[in-house]
Formats: sequence, C-alpha cells, structure tokens
Amino acid sequence: MNQSKQRCLIVAVDGPAGSGKSSVCSKACKRLGWTYVNTGFLYRAVAYICGVRQIPLNASEKLGVVIDDFMQSLIWDPETQAVWFQGENISTHLYTDQAGKDASLIATNRLVREKLLPLQRDLARRSPVGSIVDGRDIGTVVFPDADLKVFLTASIDERARRRIRQLKDGAHVTPEELDTIRTSIAERDKQDAARDVAPLIQAPDAILLDTSELDMNGTIDALVSLIRARNLV
Ligand code: DC
Repeated sequence: MNQSKQRCLIVAVDGPAGSGKSSVCSKACKRLGWTYVNTGFLYRAVAYICGVRQIPLNASEKLGVVIDDFMQSLIWDPETQAVWFQGENISTHLYTDQAGKDASLIATNRLVREKLLPLQRDLARRSPVGSIVDGRDIGTVVFPDADLKVFLTASIDERARRRIRQLKDGAHVTPEELDTIRTSIAERDKQDAARDVAPLIQAPDAILLDTSELDMNGTIDALVSLIRARNLV
C-alpha cells in the first residue's frame, strides 16, 4: 500500500455496454477491500424514476427536479450497489435492457450530466482507501486526474454472447436472439459515443484492456495487475 497518499485513490474504468465492467470492477474491489461505484446505476435510477412519475425522458426541466429529489433522498449501499429512493429499494428495476436504453437516452442531456457529476465524485471519495468507478466518462470528465484509467472493451459479438448468457442463465440461445441483443448493444454504443456532451471515448492516458479472449477471472486478474503495477496497493 502506498502510504504517502492520504486521499482516496481512484481507478477510472470506462467502456462500451456489455464489456463486463460492473462484474469485473465489483469483484476486483472485493479482492482489494476497495469501494466500487457503478455510475451507470445512477443514470438508470433517474430514468426509472422518470418512468414511475410519467415524465418523458426528454423533458429537460422536469429531469432536473427528479435529480434534485433523487440526490436528496438517495441511500446507496457501497457493498451491493443497491439504491434506495424515498425509502424504497429500486435496484431490481435497474438491470433490464430497457433500463440501460432509457439511461443512455437521458445521459445525452447536459443538465442531467452536470447534476450527477458531484454525486459521482462524492460517492467515490467516501472510501477511506480507494474506489474503482465505472462508466463512460469517468477518465475524461468525472475524474480526469484518476490514479489509473482503464478502457475495458471486447468485440461486439463477445459482448452480445455475455449479455445473453446473463439474461438467459445458460438456456439455449437462437441466432435471432443473439442478433437482437447485438443490435441493441450497437445502438446504445452509438448513442453513447455520438452525443455532444461527455461522449464514450478512451481517454488518451487510459490503458486499453480488450477482454474478448479473457474469462471473468482473467479479466479481474488483469485489472488488479494494472492497479498493482501503478503501485496503488
Ligand atoms: O453502465 P451502464 O450500461 O449501466 O450505463 C447505462 C447508460 O448510462 C449508458 O448506456 C450511458 C449512461 N452512462 C453515461 O452516460 N455515463 C456514465 N458515466 C455511466 C453511464
């Protein structure tokens, strides 16, 4: 452990949809005794609350009110990433493909991004040791001075296979189902990378980690090795 640093260490992990960021980062944090911050979950939560309140995802002003309410009453469990809003654990609503698409849509809104920025920084800095923060703009906007930046990716086919494995829990998958998921992932990547504000992009000083040929444990090992190589643990 690097004793000379007093502040919380930050590892930024960005990458496209389905690259395995959340599983890899949360397991790496368990190994290291660090905190994991899944920023996509915050965007998903805001989109979900809009749905419950029947607020269109492009109603900019109303989105601002939703985020103010969200930040006021949010309870977040760093162990499980569970998110409570106004006393209700809303986490189970946030894992679906539709929740990801809705989050991607509101994430194109500048006001939404600006309002969620301090929250993401605050959650990450609550750790007494270090945090791995994952998302799309962590290394470029949220923590441009992160101690380590990693861009985690995998081929679109591999990401589609992983996603469908997760959704179908090992059941047989038809080529059509695989195609649908591949298209949905590609559309989300396009929306995240093409937006004007904080697009999905590899920071110039981020290390590219392509996991197309790696399994989960291999990917966690690779991420932890990068953190060790930077002398952060
Ligand atoms: O990581 P995820 O798939 O749960 O994220 C859902 C969407 O939220 C993603 O498609 C784009 C948006 N997002 C973002 O724009 N910036 C982040 N830091 C995290 C997520």
